[in-house]
Amino acid sequence: MSGDDPLAVLRSRRSRAALVAPGPDRPQLRELLEAAATAPDHGRLRPWRFIVVDGPALGQLGESFAAAHAEREPGVTATQLARTRTKPLRAPVVVVVVAVLRDHPKVGWAEQRASAACVAHGLTLAAHARGFGAMWRTGWYGETAKVRAHLGLLDNEEVTGWIYLGTPTGGPPPPRPDTPLPVTWLD
Ligand SMILES: Cc1cc2nc3c(=O)[nH]c(=O)nc-3n(C[C@H](O)[C@H](O)[C@H](O)COP(=O)(O)O)c2cc1C
Repeated sequence: MSGDDPLAVLRSRRSRAALVAPGPDRPQLRELLEAAATAPDHGRLRPWRFIVVDGPALGQLGESFAAAHAEREPGVTATQLARTRTKPLRAPVVVVVVAVLRDHPKVGWAEQRASAACVAHGLTLAAHARGFGAMWRTGWYGETAKVRAHLGLLDNEEVTGWIYLGTPTGGPPPPRPDTPLPVTWLD
């Protein structure tokens, strides 16, 4: 995607589940992260940080997912665990957007979480603007002690999103459903 109309970038972005190499390289990724980091941020707290997972670290993240799964569901089958283990391998790069929540007299945690969500969305948009595909994934893995320890999250940090990045494949996504705009005009 390229072009001069920022609204065209917003309107044409779609979640892309099928992602292959190449993903953004380190300089490209830095550009995307810097763009995403311009998200609105009450009080300039920058209540978020990034963890970039690529190369062998994707497999290691998958191991931590599997360990968390085994702990949560002791009866889980080997087949299910194998599936869990490969989840981070669905893209060449995964960026973990982490909300870093601090007590502040004016800026509550809801606002800080909102800022982190803006960063996550900004990252998907920046990726799209540079021709990469992105998929914002969540799930319970990021809430588990095993995965949190693997990522080195502190008690005041939480996973806002796993942003999978890569080259989109599998053809264009289906058209966006034509849903009514939920807007109330007060005049
Ligand atoms: C907070 C959040 C969490 C999401 N988690 C997932 C997820 O776990 N799995 C998934 O397939 N998509 C996830 N998505 C992406 C949505 O499914 C996707 O945005 C939605 O289907 C609309 O598609 P579009 O982005 O192409 O418009 C998430 C999006 C947000 C904002």
